[in-house]
Amino acid sequence: MFITYHDGSSREITIIDQEVPYPDGKLIVSRTDTAGVITHANQAFIEMSGYSLDELIGINHNILRHPDMPAAAFKDLWVTIQSGKKWHGYVKNLRKDGAFYWVKATVIPNIRNGELMGYTSVRRKPSRSKVDACTALYAQMKMDMPS
Ligand SMILES: Cc1cc2nc3c(=O)[nH]c(=O)nc-3n(C[C@H](O)[C@H](O)[C@H](O)COP(=O)(O)O)c2cc1C
Repeated sequence: MFITYHDGSSREITIIDQEVPYPDGKLIVSRTDTAGVITHANQAFIEMSGYSLDELIGINHNILRHPDMPAAAFKDLWVTIQSGKKWHGYVKNLRKDGAFYWVKATVIPNIRNGELMGYTSVRRKPSRSKVDACTALYAQMKMDMPS
């Protein structure tokens, strides 16, 4: 199938209906520039996404976008962080192998001397009840506004 991004670009992806459980006690960390291009990823990010560090650095963070995620969630993320605030949310991510993993994400603007340098995201293990609630909510959002 093809996934279409907010800017109208698209790429072909393969999805498999298989969840990879979030590893206990790990933090998945990445940093981006102001445009959402990946500048740093930790070992847990590499292991969970299935990409090598070389494949990740310099590409848009939307490489992880899963087609089950509603566009409105990312719209909310960008409006929040571009206004200098922290964003919290639950995200279903697409792995390189087509499987998925859920995260509880925080995205923080990195501001140095009053200047926006980029963003950092730290993810933790989400509770099963929140994952279940977001699965239903996002499916409803996609039905109301397909993207
Ligand atoms: C620091 C940071 C981390 C992000 N992490 C993710 C992520 O883990 N998964 C994801 O789908 N989008 C993530 N995004 C949002 C993407 O940049 C993008 O908005 C989203 O994947 C939807 O793609 P689109 O906006 O090109 O349609 C992150 C953005 C930032 C700034």
